[in-house]
Amino acid sequence: MRTLTVDSLNPAIKNVQYAVRGELAIKAEKYRVDLKDANHGLPFDKVISSNIGNPQQKGLDQPPITFTRQVAALTEWPALADLAPGVFPKDVVARAKELSEEIGSIGAYSHSQGVPLIRKSVAKFIEERDGYPSDPNQIFLTAGASAGVTLFINMLITPPNSGILIPIPQYPLYTATLAQYNGIGLPYYLDESSGWSTSVASIEAALEKAQKEGVAAKALVIINPGNPTGAVLDETTQEELVKLCEKHSLVLLADEVYQANLHQPEKYTFTSFKKVVSRLQSPVPLVSFHSISKGVSGECGRRGGYFECTNFSEEIIALIYKMVSIGLCPPVSGQIGVDCMVRPPKAGDESYELWKKETDTTHAALKSRTRTMAARLNALPGVFCVDSPGALYLFPQITLSAKVQEVARAAGKEPDAFYSLALLDETGICVVPGSGFGQKEGEWHYRLTCLCPGVDEYVGKLEKFHKGFVEKYGL
Ligand SMILES: Cc1ncc(COP(=O)(O)O)c(C=O)c1O
Repeated sequence: MRTLTVDSLNPAIKNVQYAVRGELAIKAEKYRVDLKDANHGLPFDKVISSNIGNPQQKGLDQPPITFTRQVAALTEWPALADLAPGVFPKDVVARAKELSEEIGSIGAYSHSQGVPLIRKSVAKFIEERDGYPSDPNQIFLTAGASAGVTLFINMLITPPNSGILIPIPQYPLYTATLAQYNGIGLPYYLDESSGWSTSVASIEAALEKAQKEGVAAKALVIINPGNPTGAVLDETTQEELVKLCEKHSLVLLADEVYQANLHQPEKYTFTSFKKVVSRLQSPVPLVSFHSISKGVSGECGRRGGYFECTNFSEEIIALIYKMVSIGLCPPVSGQIGVDCMVRPPKAGDESYELWKKETDTTHAALKSRTRTMAARLNALPGVFCVDSPGALYLFPQITLSAKVQEVARAAGKEPDAFYSLALLDETGICVVPGSGFGQKEGEWHYRLTCLCPGVDEYVGKLEKFHKGFVEKYGL
């Protein structure tokens, strides 16, 4: 028998890279284990997970919403409502009963497209948000937004010469999945000097380059609000982007998982692409992704999300259905999480006051941390940080001297990875180097989340490290 080797596997797998859980995160995990030993000898006593937008991760402090967890508890074990009379608010009991009657046991496979009642709730949420109709038959519930994005990349890519326009910097799900399906990432650059704005000109330039190289562009990915940038698009730009998709026959993949994470709502509001496409009566095929992982929900581990298709033929919807049915169904507990996100308690419901208090507290914490962190980062020598109006991250640019670059290269590292490793080794703070998201040649960044409690202590450590680093290597 021949031994199984890496070379006998699908070669596309070797090209996949996913920095958010890469070298830094693996080393941070090791430090976490080492810290359990009283004689660990490390210069810090805890690891700070600033590398991933996982709001409920141990050590981060975004609590789950009580309403969501209570509905989850009663749908897991419906008998609990009678065993614990008076413990659960009336609206929770009613919601759980409604869902249980529709679903039956949550241990059974559901409809492959998602529970029809929950898809109706999603359609109603979209209609109320946008003021335009939404059809539950065009909505698919998913195991997080990732599952939907992966499905569309798989469906759209026709190797060897087709690609998808992706923003740089981008969330590495896109480059990783494109690599997996032999698709080509067609980078267009966001403009850091104007708050990481998106411009039609930069996308046109990427399209021109693709055409010269013989690559067919199939779709345009827009992440709004952005990851890692936190930028929020204005409606004029969104209209221009829709028209650009019309002009070049592109499918618009709108990743809107951070739509509820807005830190400057007086200045930056979220408008969905569904609303813009509907208002323009555009024929552009649009897929809009949403998730229970972010926002104030933060239920990453429950794996729930949805996508809505607009301007897709019945034939394609049938093909999508065929593809999702191979996976049988999205997790039913995740689907219930989606119902709670799109149908939260209303004023007058018994759960409303607590729900409002919990969501307000989370919004306020994210807003104040983002602001404090951006201001303090900007005060550091050689650091420039856009004060993100959305999402869960900051993406500061750092100036790294020729000396750092030389030492880093000699160690076989990208200079920003070298900086980030030194930060982890000295402080226990785990961030993701900008090279994992893509950046302009010769620029260096890192991404950190705004989810860590104790900002003063945390940013204080970061400042001390940065000043020492600059002293050692110069600017
Ligand atoms: C822009 C973006 N899209 C999609 C996802 C995936 O989220 P989910 O947990 O819903 O799969 C993430 C997760 O961080 C993200 O940042």
